[in-house]
Amino acid sequence: MKEQLESIRRQALDAVAAAADPAQLEELRVRFLGKKGELTAVLKQMGKLSAEERPVMGQIANDIRAAIESAMETAKKELVAKALEQRLLDEALDVTVPGKEAKIGHRHPMYIALDEIKEIFIGMGFTVLDGPEVELAELNFDRLNAEEGHPSRDWSDTFYFDTDSRVMLRSQTSPMQVRAMDTMELPIRIIAPGRVYRKDEVDATHSPMFHQVEGMVIDKNVTMADLKGTLNTVVEQLYGKGTKTRFRPHHFPFTEPSCEMDVQCHKCGGVGCPTCKGEGWIELLGAGMIHPRVLEMSGIDPNEYSGWAFGIGLERTAMRRFKIADLRLIFENDVRFLEQF
Ligand code: PHE
Repeated sequence: MKEQLESIRRQALDAVAAAADPAQLEELRVRFLGKKGELTAVLKQMGKLSAEERPVMGQIANDIRAAIESAMETAKKELVAKALEQRLLDEALDVTVPGKEAKIGHRHPMYIALDEIKEIFIGMGFTVLDGPEVELAELNFDRLNAEEGHPSRDWSDTFYFDTDSRVMLRSQTSPMQVRAMDTMELPIRIIAPGRVYRKDEVDATHSPMFHQVEGMVIDKNVTMADLKGTLNTVVEQLYGKGTKTRFRPHHFPFTEPSCEMDVQCHKCGGVGCPTCKGEGWIELLGAGMIHPRVLEMSGIDPNEYSGWAFGIGLERTAMRRFKIADLRLIFENDVRFLEQF
């Protein structure tokens, strides 16, 4: 019996030493120490022993059980530690591998141009206003001296929401003139950038949605000279010192006199080329002295106050600023185009 016990001890300790993981250890525990295990099987034969032999064998069996248990304990600790070490190795991060470059976007050329315009006007003491794109025809037309029957009110030009033509997508940022006059204290110096909508087909220079920046000054003794001086300053800051402008007479219902301002073509310097369609000049904005009727309708006395206003096309400004030939590029948002700015 002693030999049997010793053989179990050897086999068990060898097997424990060779175990590859905790699950195998558990199998060994059942095999050697379990109720139906090998050690138990031997002990069941104790009855056959003499009274003197029994306690001696019992002692040996207990020693063997203790030895196997302690070997298992130690082996388990080692296996767990080894498993952890392996996991740490497997999951280790090689910080020297080059990372994937995170692609972040950048500003759209039109908004770069808008920010430049804002900077310039804020520097001159203007306040930047934001206004609704869904506007009342009353503010977009009536209060701007464009009465019923004015061609720009036609359904073929304007997006209306209702059959009585009272609510519309604003066709210009000029209703912001009225909103400013209605809510602000005099004197007023504002710009108001935003989207405007007209029923135009898309081509290289037209889109049913585009952006304008409205500008307006109302104060005592304000003249056309202030308008021209201010716009020339802005143009020089945007396009560089010495950039020439030209003011042509025009008509708007809410300004009198009215004009359009052209900027000398950046491509040909005024000689005439395809970009300026042979003109040498590119139209940039409409402007004028605020019509006395418009001031009156907003409760401002035109004998005491005068003002000027302008509306600049933002896409056009950006196209000139960044030498972009086709308006559609601004709206397509092709990253290959946008990444150039
Ligand atoms: N609202 C005019 C347009 O859309 C531009 C303009 C604004 C003209 C202010 C005069 C004064 O064409």
